[in-house]
Amino acid sequence: MSTQRNILITGGAGFIGSHVVRRFVTKYPGYRIINLDALTYAGNMENLRDVEKASNYVFLKADIREAEAMNKVFTEHDIDAVIHLAAESHVDRSISDPMSFVTTNVVGTVNLLNAARVAWKGGYDGKRFYHVSTDEVYGSLHDDSLFLETTPYDPQSPYSASKAASDHFVRAYGNTYKLPFVITNCSNNYGSHQFPEKLIPLMINNIRNSKPLPVYGKGENVRDWLWVEDHAAAIDEVFHRGVNGETYNIGGHNEWKNIDLVHLLCGIMDRKLGRAEGESAKLITYVTDRAGHDLRYAIDAGKVERELGWRPSITFEQGLERTVDWYLANPDWMEHVTSGAYRDYYDAQYAAR
Ligand code: NAD
Ligand code: DAU
Repeated sequence: MSTQRNILITGGAGFIGSHVVRRFVTKYPGYRIINLDALTYAGNMENLRDVEKASNYVFLKADIREAEAMNKVFTEHDIDAVIHLAAESHVDRSISDPMSFVTTNVVGTVNLLNAARVAWKGGYDGKRFYHVSTDEVYGSLHDDSLFLETTPYDPQSPYSASKAASDHFVRAYGNTYKLPFVITNCSNNYGSHQFPEKLIPLMINNIRNSKPLPVYGKGENVRDWLWVEDHAAAIDEVFHRGVNGETYNIGGHNEWKNIDLVHLLCGIMDRKLGRAEGESAKLITYVTDRAGHDLRYAIDAGKVERELGWRPSITFEQGLERTVDWYLANPDWMEHVTSGAYRDYYDAQYAAR
């Protein structure tokens, strides 16, 4: 795979994508990284200020829902491989607007698969289509088992159904057209540059501003948290050394009930903000549960660990400290992404709870 030159990364202006782009641009000067992003509410050019002038970096504002535009990108940029992250990614938004998840996550992925197939019709040597997916495709755990790569798909939200459908299309193109692909299904990520509609940055921002901390239901739901830079490192390993046609689960062996995680964050923030112990936790407010809220996700990452030697590099406590420090050191970033349209979303999302 080391001969590949033109790598298309979709969704590179988003949370995980920006970490992947930064890693590839800086670590692989021999690659030309083409970051394709529609810059929806979740895409932010500020996330990549530090690499945007690199000579091996190109940004393309384009929409994966537009088939012709995708075909053009493949021919104009002579794409050798794709790391596909662009998606509508927030479960709550998928409940209020499922169709945009169908058009971006399903149709958009099929547009990219078609563009790759046509552009690579001369031969698949050195080509690779990497689909970045989620553990949510496996559904909701109600016992103490873990998701394996062989766990049957059982998506429960419009978001996870759209990601499951896109995974199925990637595998179908592998089977039907022999398109070389890999898929990874990862657990919940946290870290810098995450849009504050997701649990951890939303809580950090609200604690900082002494606003209510909206915990859905009883806060008993469990998520398996992984530091985003460890996810980017796993993507790097799988991209270079993963076996075509294979799926790898990625996770942090790090399960937390939401309410325990919010208490942990409150404690860290009390310390960082010089507040009395227990001060921030007073902001916790139980609100109406998410519709169809999956109870528990937990990944068995044994395959990627055994076969590719990947492991999380830091503990959750270290990762959370770094994450909190980053948000506290970057109030401008938070201010920019929480102005305007996001305020309308926030008011509508939490008013009825
Ligand atoms: P994000 O919402 O932060 O970023 C998504 C990016 O995709 C944004 O930059 C957005 O502008 C872009 N985008 C959206 N629609 C587009 C379109 N039609 N055309 C082109 N670009 C478009 O998402 P994220 O949390 O960084 O997730 C990235 C990927 O990783 C997604 O595929 C998601 O399903 C998957 N994933 C996320 C997590 C997580 O915890 N965040 C965990 C596992 C897998
Ligand atoms: O598991 C991987 C998935 O993790 C990714 O595929 C998704 O893209 C990503 O958004 C994430 O999905 P979740 O729904 O688990 O993440 P979210 O941060 O929205 O919520 C985490 C948990 O916290 C979930 O149980 C719902 C709860 N929650 C969330 C918000 C936003 C609250 O209790 N209050 C909140 O305000």
